[in-house]
Amino acid sequence: MKKIVVFASGSGSNFQTIVDKLHQKTCEVALLVCDKAGAYCLERAEKLHIPTFVFNPKEYETKADFEKEICQRLNLIQPDLIVLAGYMRIIGETLLNAYEGKIINIHPALLPAFPGRDGIGDALNYGVKVMGVTVHYVDAGIDTGNIIDQACFKRTGNETREEVETRIHALEHELYPQVITQLLQA
Ligand code: GAR
Repeated sequence: MKKIVVFASGSGSNFQTIVDKLHQKTCEVALLVCDKAGAYCLERAEKLHIPTFVFNPKEYETKADFEKEICQRLNLIQPDLIVLAGYMRIIGETLLNAYEGKIINIHPALLPAFPGRDGIGDALNYGVKVMGVTVHYVDAGIDTGNIIDQACFKRTGNETREEVETRIHALEHELYPQVITQLLQA
């Protein structure tokens, strides 16, 4: 069975959905990599019995140093795909070179519009009428890699940010497992 590793920094709702829909069916979710002790995704991993590697970037001198350690863990697994799901860190050249073309990310906006940390807030502030999510390959830039797939919805106009977030997450939870499945089958 093919193996994937998920990277997350926060709540981990995408991680949860990926495990619920794909684990031991389409692929093995072999590891959760997390850069924040105490993040809710770690609680989810424990309940789901998915192994974790948690690290504190501040304990390393450089990004290359912690990415080397991540690579050591990944090399034991030999994942077919690395899935970033709310991992709020730019991937450095150590990981990119080791897993070129095998790292994907989900972003809560219709790239190339609104890259960065707050795609939803930036899109709302701009006043867009169509919102959506993007799955893309990861390159050295911020949300700049080749787009794999997107999904969108039209706003009614007066939703709260919370309502928009709920719709965005629902779209992500549909799209991401589908894209992962397609990539693993290709
Ligand atoms: C998701 O909405 C994802 O698109 C976003 O973080 C959220 C994580 O939610 N990622 C980015 O903004 C990356 N630039 P989750 O922890 O509940 O899966």
